[in-house]
Amino acid sequence: MSYILEAAGLNTFYGRSHILFDVSLAVSSGETVCLMGRNGAGKTTTFRSLIGLTPVKLGKVMIKGKDCSRLPAYKRARLGIGFVPEDRRILGPFTVRENLGLGRIPGRSGIWNEETVLEQFPLLVHLMDRLGGTLSGGEQQLLTIARALISNPDVLLLDEPTEGLAPVVVAVLKDLVLNLKKAGITILLSEQNIRFATSVSDRAVVIDKGHVVFTGTMEEFKREESVQKKYLAV
Ligand SMILES: Nc1ncnc2c1ncn2[C@@H]1O[C@H](COP(=O)(O)OP(=O)(O)O)[C@@H](O)[C@H]1O
Ligand SMILES: [Mg+2]
Repeated sequence: MSYILEAAGLNTFYGRSHILFDVSLAVSSGETVCLMGRNGAGKTTTFRSLIGLTPVKLGKVMIKGKDCSRLPAYKRARLGIGFVPEDRRILGPFTVRENLGLGRIPGRSGIWNEETVLEQFPLLVHLMDRLGGTLSGGEQQLLTIARALISNPDVLLLDEPTEGLAPVVVAVLKDLVLNLKKAGITILLSEQNIRFATSVSDRAVVIDKGHVVFTGTMEEFKREESVQKKYLAV
């Protein structure tokens, strides 16, 4: 079995604090996998370890079968990991068009360019000349996803995309993720919002205190009410 993205036995520390304990997960081509867990469970740390923003002490990260555990973040991005951070990081003094353009990565090409990306994000079309800093939280979230998509990633990582968003924006995001799936994009997202996660994902990985405590299909996850109660706020 070859995976687009694979983490095997990740152990990550912040200083002396041991945060991730043998975290393993794998994402196959075309799949949407959701990493679920409470605040502080280790979702963002897992993503940072995957993309190379936080070093992994023990364990392996593989992109399309290539061990990239020791590669810096920009090289992993070139290999095809696109990342949408929790805190969005839109540049306020730059226009939406400029922010979008910053997502391009030299040497990576594919079907996604300004035109094809905007087809997926009709709400951004009329905002292209606005300054990033004037966008609402929901518009900024859409822009960060569009900015990651324009790099033509092989796998798109979305860290808690629905966090802090109004239900109407969450509904827009749900349609967007389902459309990206139809377009064949491979996605790894993290969520605490079980409804959103179950409506867009094929498989679930649940993390608690830095340990993976469940891996299975979404159907299996839905049946595991004890897992939901024990490890997620339900
Ligand atoms: N920069 C940091 N330095 C030290 N500890 C951190 C840092 N960032 C996060 N942590 C700790 O690591 C654990 C996992 O955090 P995080 O990965 O952000 O969880 P989640 O994204 O699931 O909310 C938490 O206990 C958190 O307090
Ligand atoms: Mg987080």
